[in-house]
Amino acid sequence: MSRFLSEWKRTHNCGELRRTDVGETVVLMGWVQNYRDHGGCIFVDLRDRYGLTQVKFDPAVAAGVNEDANRLRSEWVCAVRGRVVDRGSNENPNMDTGAVELEATEIEIFNASKTPPFAISDRNDANELLRLKYRYLDLRRPALQQKLVLRHRVTQLTRQYLSDHGFLELETPILSKSTPEGARDYLVPSRVHPGEFYALPQSPQTFKQIFMVAGYDRYFQVARCFRDEDLRADRQPEFTQIDVEMSFIAPDDIYRIIGDLVRLLWKDVLGIDVPPIAQMTYQEAMARFGIDKPDLRFGLELVDIGDVAAKTDFQVFRRVLEGGGLVKSINAKGGASLSRAEIDKLGAVCTRYGAKGMAWVKVQPDGWQGPAAKYFSDDVKAELTARLDVAPGDLVCFVADSFTVCNDALAHLRLELGEKLGLIPREGDAAWKFIWITDFPLFEEITENGRYYSKHHPFTSPHPEDLQHLMSDPPKVRSLAYDLVLNGTELGGGSIRIHSHEVQGQIFKLLGLGEEETQLKFGFLLEALGYGTPPHGGIALGMDRLVMLLTGADSIREVIAFPKTQKASDLMTNSPSGVDPGQLEELHIRVVKPTA
Ligand code: AMO
Ligand code: AMP
Repeated sequence: MSRFLSEWKRTHNCGELRRTDVGETVVLMGWVQNYRDHGGCIFVDLRDRYGLTQVKFDPAVAAGVNEDANRLRSEWVCAVRGRVVDRGSNENPNMDTGAVELEATEIEIFNASKTPPFAISDRNDANELLRLKYRYLDLRRPALQQKLVLRHRVTQLTRQYLSDHGFLELETPILSKSTPEGARDYLVPSRVHPGEFYALPQSPQTFKQIFMVAGYDRYFQVARCFRDEDLRADRQPEFTQIDVEMSFIAPDDIYRIIGDLVRLLWKDVLGIDVPPIAQMTYQEAMARFGIDKPDLRFGLELVDIGDVAAKTDFQVFRRVLEGGGLVKSINAKGGASLSRAEIDKLGAVCTRYGAKGMAWVKVQPDGWQGPAAKYFSDDVKAELTARLDVAPGDLVCFVADSFTVCNDALAHLRLELGEKLGLIPREGDAAWKFIWITDFPLFEEITENGRYYSKHHPFTSPHPEDLQHLMSDPPKVRSLAYDLVLNGTELGGGSIRIHSHEVQGQIFKLLGLGEEETQLKFGFLLEALGYGTPPHGGIALGMDRLVMLLTGADSIREVIAFPKTQKASDLMTNSPSGVDPGQLEELHIRVVKPTA
């Protein structure tokens, strides 16, 4: 039997020993972070996920102990027995265990390691693709370990909180049917049903609603979701939701229960007291911030100046207004100090989001300067000064375009200005600004062949006050959908669902889904909804995004143990990958490769 099993028992971890342990005989197990040979006496920093401890192999303490230690290299894994000694004036204040070291009397090398392709250090700047290929080495880094430990904590607190509030954690199938979130599905072929496929769930949406029909009035799940969509820093093809559904509720119940959960997490993890989370309608968010996920950590609000712009000789403004568009502006307080090149970069942000240009004026003590200044009469300047609170030293930016482009361009300009002018607080209570965005429109603005698209999903209830316009003026109809937004990121979204068969039928009609198609896609749900469905609603929070924001990570890849690349590949397992022709045959599948 291995000596490991018979003789070695770990007594402490590598982050644990303190001066109070001096004199104890202990056993540590871990990986070699680094080793130094000081003329026969060998020093090793031994690492596990709890920390680092310095181990000294001194032949004067135990004859021959340094011979085995001499073989150690980076990332070898071993056990060391020894006595804890005080480092006295050699104390290392940068290490939690720096007051002591372990004077080794015995060592057992469990395993050698190949030379790692990069150093296991938070200072390592190895290419991300290389780190993803050797993810198990990257996962040894303290920074990544801390993020996953925090993720564990968030999961545990969430489970405890929801369970304490009467929610049941229930599982739903992974091999399932297309769900209504609107991204592309990942499909799984069936061997026993040739030519038929399961879809991996984009969310547990349909099943959680069926739980409500079945009377399980408070459900939650830490649910894995799958979406084949274009990836970004805050999107992965498989991700985790804290998924919740409740019966007999109004939106306020969701705001309170989920708001309190999030506040609990911020208090426990960061020690931050988040005040009760306020609400803002979609309409107000668009008017003031140009976006439905406003970053409320700073001002620089958008102001509609269409009525004033109509009085100028600027043809660009007038044409846009005549076409039903908007002219909005941002007063970048103190921005007059920006150089021409910097202002051109701001203009480029606007054009990147579709604007045809960005007009601007610098307000100097001796008057307004810049390409747009010549179009503004003294009266117009006076009106703008009052409307925008203009003062010398300001830079005022204008965009004229359709509702969508004008808002989109200025929303991104606002973020850029916030960064550039250093207006975004990063610490303390001011660094965390939550908001519920409510009253989303039921449908997207774009229509095709008279067909509408759900803004949230087809089961979202129209706002009761707007129900009368549902068939006559659909774009006007608000919904009972809401998003939870933090610092400009959508943390979660949900809605009160339709529980009227008639309304659901009208929605499908507007979405251009025929009887046959709805039956094929959602027939089982519609059937279930016919058996005494209670009023119900819910929400899903993006767990990865939540942990990303809590840890200050730049990307959700940093808070997922085994993430995929921007191209949806797992570089460690090398998937997706080809399969054996026999397997394809069994699945009745023939592959048609794209040409060129
Ligand atoms: P929705 O599609 O808005 O709603 O998703 C809810 C939350 O899930 C997170 N999320 C993602 N996180 C990482 N990668 C992705 N690709 C990704 N896609 C979404 C976001 C988002 O806010 N069934 C409905 C919820 C409901 O109505 O109850 C749903 O899935 O943080
Ligand atoms: P000029 O061509 O000198 O009359 O001024 C044009 C200015 O208006 C430039 O700064 C353009 O970037 C800006 N501009 C052009 N189109 C728009 C628009 N749709 N909205 C706001 N500014 C615009």
